[in-house]
Amino acid sequence: MTTYPYPTAHQTVAVAARATELSKVYGHGETQVVALDRVSVDFRQGEFTAIMGPSGSGKSTLMHCVAGLDSFSSGSVRIGETELGTLKDKQLTQLRRDKIGFIFQAFNLLPTLNALENITLPMDIAGRKPDKAWLDKVIEMVGLSGRLKHRPSELSGGQQQRVAVARALASRPEIMFGDEPTGNLDSRSGAEVLGFLRNSVRELGQTVVMVTHDPVAASYADRVIFLADGRIVDEMIKPTADGVLDRMKDFDTKGRTS
Ligand SMILES: Nc1ncnc2c1ncn2[C@@H]1O[C@H](COP(=O)(O)OP(=O)(O)OP(=O)(O)O)[C@@H](O)[C@H]1O
Ligand SMILES: [Mg+2]
Repeated sequence: MTTYPYPTAHQTVAVAARATELSKVYGHGETQVVALDRVSVDFRQGEFTAIMGPSGSGKSTLMHCVAGLDSFSSGSVRIGETELGTLKDKQLTQLRRDKIGFIFQAFNLLPTLNALENITLPMDIAGRKPDKAWLDKVIEMVGLSGRLKHRPSELSGGQQQRVAVARALASRPEIMFGDEPTGNLDSRSGAEVLGFLRNSVRELGQTVVMVTHDPVAASYADRVIFLADGRIVDEMIKPTADGVLDRMKDFDTKGRTS
C-alpha cells in the first residue's frame, strides 16, 4: 500500500486519492482552454481538504476528474489502489458507486421519497443492505433522527442538505467530494453542515474534499489548496478564516501587479 509521511516521519497515512501530472484541456486550437495544467496532489485518508481559487481556476474540473465523473487529457488519477485510467465505463460506474460519495450544491433529493428513503436510495439501487449501526450513527450525527419520515418539501434547506450529506456518507465511501456543498445555505445551516463534515472526518475517519469560495467554510478543513489557472499555487495547513482571507487578498494583489 502507498503511504505518505504525515504528520511525522514515524507515522504513515494512506492516500485515499492521488492525481499525478493531471491535465485537462477543453477544445482545440484558438478556443483551447487548459482547465488543469499538470496538477499533482494527494488526498490523505482521514483528512479534510478544501479547494479554493478564483472562478474558472479549475476547482470543479479537478474534483470531477479525481472523482471519476469526467475524463482527463493526460496524467493519472487513482482512488485507493485503483488507477482510473485502466477502468472500463462499467467498472468506473461501479467504483463511483462503491467508493465515492458526492454532495452537490443542488441537493438532488427525490421529492416523492422521505428522508430515510433518500438516504438509502443509492444502496437500494446497488442492491446493498445498509450497515444498520453505521447508518444510525450517520443519521444521529446529522441530527435527522426526528425527521426521517419527512419528504424534502417538508424540510428546511439546511435539513435537506443534511439529508444529502447523510446519503453521501451512508455507504461509508472511501472518499467524499462536495462542490460548494454549503453554497445554497444560510450561514447557520452552512455551519451545521460543515460541522457534520468535520465530525465525519474526526469521529468516523472519513476523507473529505470540498470546493468552496468561503474562507469560513475553508477554516473547517485540515488544509486548503489554492488553484489559479489550472495549477496548485499554494497550500495552507490548519487554516483559519482570517489566514485564508489574507492569502486570497495576496493573490488578488499579485494578479493586479503582474
Ligand atoms: N465543458 C467545457 N468546455 C470548455 N471549457 C470548459 C468546460 N468546462 C469548464 N471549462 C473551462 O475550464 C476552466 C475551469 O473550469 P472549472 O469549472 O473547473 O472552474 P471553477 O474553478 O470550478 O470555477 P467556479 O468557481 O466558477 O465554479 C474554465 O476556464 C472554464 O471556462
Ligand atoms: Mg466550479
